[in-house]
Amino acid sequence: MTDGASNAMWGGRFATGPDAIMEAINASIDFDKRLAAQDIRGSKAHSAMLAEAGILTAADRDAIHGGLDLIAAEIADGTFVYSAALEDIHMNIEARLRALIGDAAGRLHTARSRNDQVATDLRLWVRDQCDAAVSGLEAVMQALLEQAEAGADWVMPGFTHLQTAQPVTWGHHMMAYVEMFGRDRSRFVDARKRMNENPLGAAALAGTSFPIDRHATAAALGFDGPMRNSLDAVSDRDFAMEFLAAASICAVHLSRLAEELVIWSSAQFRFVTMSDRFSTGSSIMPQKKNPDAAELIRAKIGRIAGANVALLMVMKGLPLAYGKDMQEDKEQVFDAADTLMLSLAAMNGMLRDLTANRAPLEAAASSGFSTATDLADWLVRTLGLPFRDAHHVTGALVAMAEAQGVDLPELSLDAMQTVHPGITSAVFDVLGVHNSVASRTSFGGTAPDQVRSQIAWWKSQL
Ligand code: ARG
Repeated sequence: MTDGASNAMWGGRFATGPDAIMEAINASIDFDKRLAAQDIRGSKAHSAMLAEAGILTAADRDAIHGGLDLIAAEIADGTFVYSAALEDIHMNIEARLRALIGDAAGRLHTARSRNDQVATDLRLWVRDQCDAAVSGLEAVMQALLEQAEAGADWVMPGFTHLQTAQPVTWGHHMMAYVEMFGRDRSRFVDARKRMNENPLGAAALAGTSFPIDRHATAAALGFDGPMRNSLDAVSDRDFAMEFLAAASICAVHLSRLAEELVIWSSAQFRFVTMSDRFSTGSSIMPQKKNPDAAELIRAKIGRIAGANVALLMVMKGLPLAYGKDMQEDKEQVFDAADTLMLSLAAMNGMLRDLTANRAPLEAAASSGFSTATDLADWLVRTLGLPFRDAHHVTGALVAMAEAQGVDLPELSLDAMQTVHPGITSAVFDVLGVHNSVASRTSFGGTAPDQVRSQIAWWKSQL
């Protein structure tokens, strides 16, 4: 071993220890301690394989495994002492192992480097986060399905430009988010598949001359197989970038739904009522119930997309293979993952507690001349007008209704006939919002029957 001043892991070449500032910029233990479980798992798989290959004795392997179990217990009960002088989680654990079991600990690092070690640990960690994101998304999707089912045939205004466009069903609107979150889920599933290859055994960058079995460690760690190129194995973080990209897209979707909940819960809309459990009050305005959880979900995309961009910038232009730059991956990935999981949990909670208010939804559905398109389609279908002419006639009828201060169904037949004499009382059938949504039976359309069949399809998928 080396003297106290220089580093215990490479002190042989160093006469003095690092400057305090060097230690401050170099140490990652404050955050990479979160990789402890993955690091221990990787070390067990590695040492088991080394023993199997005859590189390590069975006695050393057993001592290593026993020591690693003790360390895991110390970490779990909070007695493990982390040291910034030991830089990162890998060296903290190895140093403790040496203190516990002596020389056998030094043999653990045979045919391995921190470069393949950290690549393996982070992959295992991100892989778990993909699974967590899938579960979180499925919970949100279930909550949306329940909302959709309860109001499959409730009408509400459908918007474009946030202006009333055509009536849609509440169920249809909820199911639009199920589709988005369903794609998010498949992005995490895909990313997990792609990242599920084992970097361990790539060693520092070139592989190793020891007769290791990378297929064995891959199997032990639940990977599909070893990564085929040792330079690539230690030097890419695309799996983390892909996770962050999927997380960013998911956070965009969450923010859109969150924004709708903020708007819909306002006194001007009253489409939904948020539960007290997911609202806060105002310290000065007693009447207020603020949708803070939704607002925060709306904002969290900033951190998640920020992490995505940060890691892209860290990796950009890095020459092969490992560079210490890559230590900057972890805080971004950890924070984005924590933020995403919390956002998904909060969205799930809000949706489970959410009351959709049928009466204001339906009242709003018929305002704003929302069935004008139905009227134009009727003119085409019944009177044989070219669509452009029908559009023009409908525009005149909307202007008339606006001038009278009424909605389209409230115009008299006589008044309508002054715009086009061919109009008959049958037109009133298409001016009602329920008829309007019921007529949109094209696949993926807003008709309640369509919505119910989409709900049934998703239930079979989840
Ligand atoms: N803490 C380092 C990281 O996060 C571990 C790998 C260090 N490897 C090295 N050769 N310095 O990337």
